[in-house]
Amino acid sequence: MTTTTRQGAQETVAASAWNLTKTYGQGDAQVHALRGIDFDLPRGRFTAIMGPSGSGKSTLMHCLAGLDQPSGGTVTVAGTDLGSLDDDALTIFRREHIGFVFQSFNLLPMLTAGENIVLPLELGGRRIDDAARERARMLADTLGVADRLGHRPAELSGGQQQRVAIARALITEPDLLFADEPTGNLDSTTSAEVLDHLRRSARELGQTVVMVTHERDAATYADYVVTMQDGRIA
Ligand SMILES: Nc1ncnc2c1ncn2[C@@H]1O[C@H](COP(=O)(O)OP(=O)(O)O)[C@@H](O)[C@H]1O
Ligand SMILES: [Mg+2]
Repeated sequence: MTTTTRQGAQETVAASAWNLTKTYGQGDAQVHALRGIDFDLPRGRFTAIMGPSGSGKSTLMHCLAGLDQPSGGTVTVAGTDLGSLDDDALTIFRREHIGFVFQSFNLLPMLTAGENIVLPLELGGRRIDDAARERARMLADTLGVADRLGHRPAELSGGQQQRVAIARALITEPDLLFADEPTGNLDSTTSAEVLDHLRRSARELGQTVVMVTHERDAATYADYVVTMQDGRIA
């Protein structure tokens, strides 16, 4: 995946980590959650980060997403060194470049599915114009929730809620979509649907997707699997 020219690298690599370390706590209580991670995240692909509980998956994701500060090393997303940004710049960078999907869906209960999907545009101060409405429709189609846009989250199944959450995360055209255990609250049939849609987001929309999971079955949907073991890539 690594290429010699910077331009070439930008075509194929969505994000990279170099010598990434993260240590929590002090003295005897120190935990080395990341012990030196080097890797490139391929653009437009679905990558799963796997590994047992406590192996550092969430810490790695949080560092890649700019939600947590590494103790050492470098994270580059879309050509920007996250370590060069102050807190405010990092918040803006996340809003513009990164989408998130959570285990617990996190939809706003008082808004319809359609209103939830366009919410990140409004929060980012963008006008909901024809192009935005068209993208919302296209995402709802791709994710199979086009006939549910007028419903509130409580009127949707868990799988439908998670697919609305994926559409919401994709509305801003993020460089990276992160999903931390996105099927953790779903039964196996519904999980398969959501995983299929994450895979289609990569294949059909060219979306870079990173999923953290401890479920081997979930990882089989991914193009690449990164296995964590005790703070390192195994
Ligand atoms: N905020 C924190 N403070 C102290 N230790 C933490 C914190 N977050 C995670 N850890 C520790 O770091 C290690 C990796 O955790 P985590 O990245 O959550 O692993 P995973 O997501 O693979 O279960 C674990 O030993 C965990 O207990
Ligand atoms: Mg975790």
